[in-house]
Amino acid sequence: MKPQDHVAEFGTVDGELKIGGLPLSRLASRVGSTPFFAYDRGLLDARVDRLREVLPSRVELSFAMKANPMPAVVQHLARRVDRIDVASGLEMQAALDTTMRPNRVSFAGPGKAPSEIRQAVAAGILIEIESMTELARVVAAGDELGVMPTIAVRVNPDFAVKGSGMRMGGGPQQFGIDAEEVPAVLREIAGSGVDVLGFHVFAGSQNLNAEIIAQSQRRTVDLVSALADHLDRPVRYLNLGGGFGIPYTEKDQPLDLNAVAGGLHELVDGPIAERFPEASPVIELGRFLVGECGVYVTRVLDRKVSRGKTYLVVDGGMHHQLAASGNFGQAIRRNYPVVVGNRVDVDAGDPVTVVGCLCTPLDLLGDDIALPPAGIDDLIVIFQAGAYGLTASPTAFLGHAAPAEVLV
Ligand SMILES: Cc1ncc(COP(=O)(O)O)c(C=O)c1O
Repeated sequence: MKPQDHVAEFGTVDGELKIGGLPLSRLASRVGSTPFFAYDRGLLDARVDRLREVLPSRVELSFAMKANPMPAVVQHLARRVDRIDVASGLEMQAALDTTMRPNRVSFAGPGKAPSEIRQAVAAGILIEIESMTELARVVAAGDELGVMPTIAVRVNPDFAVKGSGMRMGGGPQQFGIDAEEVPAVLREIAGSGVDVLGFHVFAGSQNLNAEIIAQSQRRTVDLVSALADHLDRPVRYLNLGGGFGIPYTEKDQPLDLNAVAGGLHELVDGPIAERFPEASPVIELGRFLVGECGVYVTRVLDRKVSRGKTYLVVDGGMHHQLAASGNFGQAIRRNYPVVVGNRVDVDAGDPVTVVGCLCTPLDLLGDDIALPPAGIDDLIVIFQAGAYGLTASPTAFLGHAAPAEVLV
């Protein structure tokens, strides 16, 4: 997708990018300082509505808040999705501060600290166990607190999903319990005083190929069907993972959501209805819910030419938006969509390179990109910044002030 396609998603007003109904320069003066992250409520709602429109009504949506734990965003989404997935004690607190009921919050991730497990058991959160050690800690916390913990088993599947930006299942993994070990684990769990609701298989993230996602969901249902034979109660929780990707670079095409939804309808009406009549099928999404709804806005501090190459030096950088610099797991660095947000209707001029204010060549936000002529005080906007932005960046590096975050 091209930068102009992202401009169209947000809309324009008076030649400026529109965010939450406001022209960018007005929003910037309301925020009072740059850089900042802005998340558009209308786009968040549209994203949830679109998912609800195409997915089977029985499918529950879980928001993986690791993608964007800003409290206002989490509060906003908590009223619109069915579940929240958390990955730490702090995220747990943020989720428990919303209207979401604790038994609709799930806790996944390797290396859950014993204190976090206790916290989750005490709150009645669903714990997705990823090892026997975690199981023992859950059982101990339940005994100590005098409550019956609810758990699901996170399974490392016996298949891998091709085309994921990050593969988190198949082969050896720190995530989940290897599928072949699960029957023995279920035997161990029986009679241990915990309630096993079902299974979670999260095979990977940032996948833009609908057919591969659909295939992985089919394989997940087959795998869970086999594992469920070893469970002494019906499956009530069937977390099929997610992995829905978003287009970060010009060569990326958006995920064909209708195709994914088509596959899910077949699964829900077929094998899931037959085999798991009591289960809630869950799709767990982070970036697909929030990533495209957010921008990172940074102001040009300097424009300089070095041996024929023009640089725009901005007041932000990789310390706030690491992913756009290519240092958050991109094997080959490709530009994120970048525009001059207060001049979106001006034609592009000669290519420029947008760099952040850190003393490292890694702090590159846009390499050799066609932008309208821009200078000091213009506002550079980086799209696809609603997920894995601020909290996935090394904010303490070089000691610059933290950016504001606003939900508009
Ligand atoms: C267990 C789990 N759920 C959900 C997600 C969210 O992934 P994404 O933001 O790509 O949807 C992740 C990402 O690492 C994850 O590990």
